Amino acid sequence: MLKKTAIVSLFTLISASYMAQNTTVIPVYLDESKPVEQRVQDALSKMTLEEKIAMLHAQSKFSSPGVPRLGIPEFWTTDGPHGVRSEVKWDEWDQAGWTNDSIIAYPALTALSATWNKNMSWNYGKALGEEARYRKKDILLGPGVNIYRTPLNGRNFEYMGEDPFLTSKMVVPYIKGVQSNGVATSVKHYALNNQEMFRHTSNVIIDDRALYEIYLPPFKAAVTEGDSWTIMGAYDMYKGQYASQNQYLLNDILKKEWSYKGVVLSDWGAVNNTEQAIHNGLDLEFGSWTNGLSEGHSNAYDSYYLAQPYLKLIKEGKVGTKELDDKVTRLLRLAYKTTMNRNKPFGNIASEEHKAVAREIGEEGIVLLKNQGNVLPIDISKAKKIAVIGENAIKIMTVGGGSSSLKVKYETLPLDGIKARFGKQADVQYARGYVGDIGGEYNGVKSGQNLKEERSPEALLNEAVALAKSSDYVIFVGGLNKADFQDSEGNDRKSYGLPYNQDNVISALAKANKNLAVVLVSGNAVAMPWVKEVPTIVQAWYLGSEAGNSIAAVLAGDANPSGKLPFTFPVKLEDNAAHQMGEYPGNKEELAAGKGKDQQNPINIKYNEGILVGYRWHDTKKIKPLFSFGHGLSYTTFEFEKAKADKTTMSQDDKITFTVSVKNTGKRAGAEVAQLYISDLKSSVQRPTKELKGFEKVFLKPGEEKEVTFTIDKTALSFFDADKHEWVAEPGDFEALIGNSSDAIKTKVKFTLK
Ligand code: BGC
Repeated sequence: MLKKTAIVSLFTLISASYMAQNTTVIPVYLDESKPVEQRVQDALSKMTLEEKIAMLHAQSKFSSPGVPRLGIPEFWTTDGPHGVRSEVKWDEWDQAGWTNDSIIAYPALTALSATWNKNMSWNYGKALGEEARYRKKDILLGPGVNIYRTPLNGRNFEYMGEDPFLTSKMVVPYIKGVQSNGVATSVKHYALNNQEMFRHTSNVIIDDRALYEIYLPPFKAAVTEGDSWTIMGAYDMYKGQYASQNQYLLNDILKKEWSYKGVVLSDWGAVNNTEQAIHNGLDLEFGSWTNGLSEGHSNAYDSYYLAQPYLKLIKEGKVGTKELDDKVTRLLRLAYKTTMNRNKPFGNIASEEHKAVAREIGEEGIVLLKNQGNVLPIDISKAKKIAVIGENAIKIMTVGGGSSSLKVKYETLPLDGIKARFGKQADVQYARGYVGDIGGEYNGVKSGQNLKEERSPEALLNEAVALAKSSDYVIFVGGLNKADFQDSEGNDRKSYGLPYNQDNVISALAKANKNLAVVLVSGNAVAMPWVKEVPTIVQAWYLGSEAGNSIAAVLAGDANPSGKLPFTFPVKLEDNAAHQMGEYPGNKEELAAGKGKDQQNPINIKYNEGILVGYRWHDTKKIKPLFSFGHGLSYTTFEFEKAKADKTTMSQDDKITFTVSVKNTGKRAGAEVAQLYISDLKSSVQRPTKELKGFEKVFLKPGEEKEVTFTIDKTALSFFDADKHEWVAEPGDFEALIGNSSDAIKTKVKFTLK
C-alpha cells in the first residue's frame, strides 16, 4: 500500500508536469497586466492587412467587425441620444422582430439642456449607458451638440440649444455617465450640420471666428473634457470637403489642435471618396447602402470606400500603411475600453432608478414660459372639471423623428398622466380639437395607436370649445410632432407657425375659458400669435417614457418648474439671425438655379450672421424676442442680492470670483438658475452684448438663501482672433451680469483686465 505522503507527492509530480506541458503564454494583447498601448501594438503586429482593412468599415447596418481569429470582438453601435434603438435586420432597416429590445425613452436633449442641471446630465448618461450595456452595445450614437441656428431645423430636438457654453457644460457629464458603463459615446454631428435641408448636398461657408466661438466649443468640450471615445462626422461639407472626410475639421482641428486619440466614425453614408477618407482623418466607415445616399446593393460592405478600394490602393503601392495603422490603433484602443474591457458593469433596463431619472429630468426640464394670474399650479379645490384638449395629449412621441425613434416599454401620455394625477378628485374630460398627424410608425416600429378621425375640423373645434366652457380648467396640449417636416430628421420644418390650425383652436379656447394653460410639446420654438390672449404657457419638449407623469407633476405643482430655455423664441422667423442676415436654406441665387438637389450640384450656405447666434443676435441688435434664452418661471419667487467680486482688477493669469446670494422669497420650495453673463465694455472687435460664462441651479426651501459663486479666468473674457489663430483677452473693462434669464439681469459688477 502506498503511503499517503507518497500518493500526495506523486499527484504533485503528475500535475506539475501536466501544467508544464499545458502552460500557454498569454499573448501580450490579452494580458491585462500589460499597459494598454503595449497591448494595442501587440494586437496590431499580429493582424494581417486584410484584417486591418476589415476593421475600418461596417459589416451590417450597425456593427463593424473585430478580428475573429484573434478573439477581438465586433463593435455594436446603436442610436441614439434619447434611448437605445430597437434591433434591425442585419442589412435592412426593418425590425429584426426581437421581443427583448424595448427600453426606457429619456427626455429629448433639448429637455435635458433646459434643466440647466449638470447632475441631471450625469444621471441621464449613466442610466442610458446602463441600458445600452444591457443591450450589449459598445458605441452609443450620441449625444448631438450641433448649435441651434434656425427654428426650422428638423433635428433641433436632438441637440442642446443655441449656446456653446451651456451645451459644453451639459454634454460633458452625459458622456462621462454613459462611458462609466464601458459604452462609448459618439458625439455628433461634427460639424456644421445645423439644418436638415440639403444636409447631404451643401457646403457651409463660415468665418473662423464664428466656427471657433459658436460651433466648435461643444465638440471640443466633448472630446477634451468629456473624453468621448468616438466622434461622428457629419454629412455636410466645409471648405468643399465632406465633413466625415475633412482635412480641416478632422486632421487639423480635432486630431492636431485638440490632440484627439479616439475614433472618428462617419455618419451613415457620409463617405464618398476613398482617398479623402484615408488621408483626412476618418477611422471607421458606416453606411446605409453602398454610399448611404442612394439605395444600392445589399451587403455592399466590401465596396465601402474604406474596404476593397483601400486595400487595392495599398496593394498597388499607391498608398502606404501609416494611416491604416493609425486607424486600427485607434480602434484597438477603443476595444480595450469597451468590448475587451472586463471591468465594465452588466447594465440593466427599465429599473425604478431609470424611470425616476426620466421623470425627474422631464420635470426639471419643463419651462414655465408665462403664468399670468397664476393659472398654474392647478388648484385642486377649484378643479371639479378639467378639460384636456389637443392631439399631443394622446399622441405617442417616441416613434418617429428619424434615427432617434424608439421602441419603448411604455410611454405615459399627457392625458393619462393628468388623469392619474387629478382623476380621483376631478372629472377629467378630453376633446381632440384638431387633427394633426395620424401616422405612428417608424422603420416598422408601430405606436399601436389608431388616431383616425372622421369628424370635420368644425365639429372638433366646437366640441373642444363647448368642453372648455363647461370646465374649471383647460389644458391644451399641442405643438409639433415627429412626422416629416416637423421635428424630424431628413427635412426641416416648412414654416415657423404651429401646424394644423392650432393657432385658431388656441384663440378659441382662450375666449372660452380664462383658466387656460397651453402646453407645447416640441423640440423647437414656434410662433405664438396668441401669446397675449393666453394666460399660461408651458414648454414641455419630448419627454419620453415618463412624459405624462412629468407634465402632470408640473401642472399639479408637485414639481415646481425650474427649466430655462436653452434657445431663444423669436417673435417671427425673420427676427432670427440666420433668416435675417445669414443664408437659409442656402444661397438665394443658387437656390433659384436649382442647386442642392444632388451631390454634383451642392449649394453653399453662408453663415453671414457670424458669431451673432441666438441671444447674442437679439441682444446686440436689440430685437426683442418672444421668450429669451435662459427664461423660465417658477411657482415661487426669488431675489438676487447685489453681487460682489473678490477683486476689481485681474491680470491675464488671474482668476476672479463673483458671489451672489439667491433667496426663495415665496411660499414653495423651488429651484432657480443663477446665470452669469460677461460683457466686454470696449473692444477692438465686435463682441456680442453679453455671453453666458457660468450657471448654477440652486434648490431653495421657502425663505432659504444660498450663496452662489462663479470663478472665471481670462477664457471667459476672450474672443477668437482669426488672424492670430488664438484666443485673445483684451485688457480693459468688463462687466459681470448675473440674473435668472438673458433678459432678466438682476445685478452687475464691473472689473478690469490688466
Ligand atoms: C443620422 C445619425 C444616426 C445614423 C444611424 C444617420 O442618418 O444622421 O444621427 O446616428 O443615421 O442611424
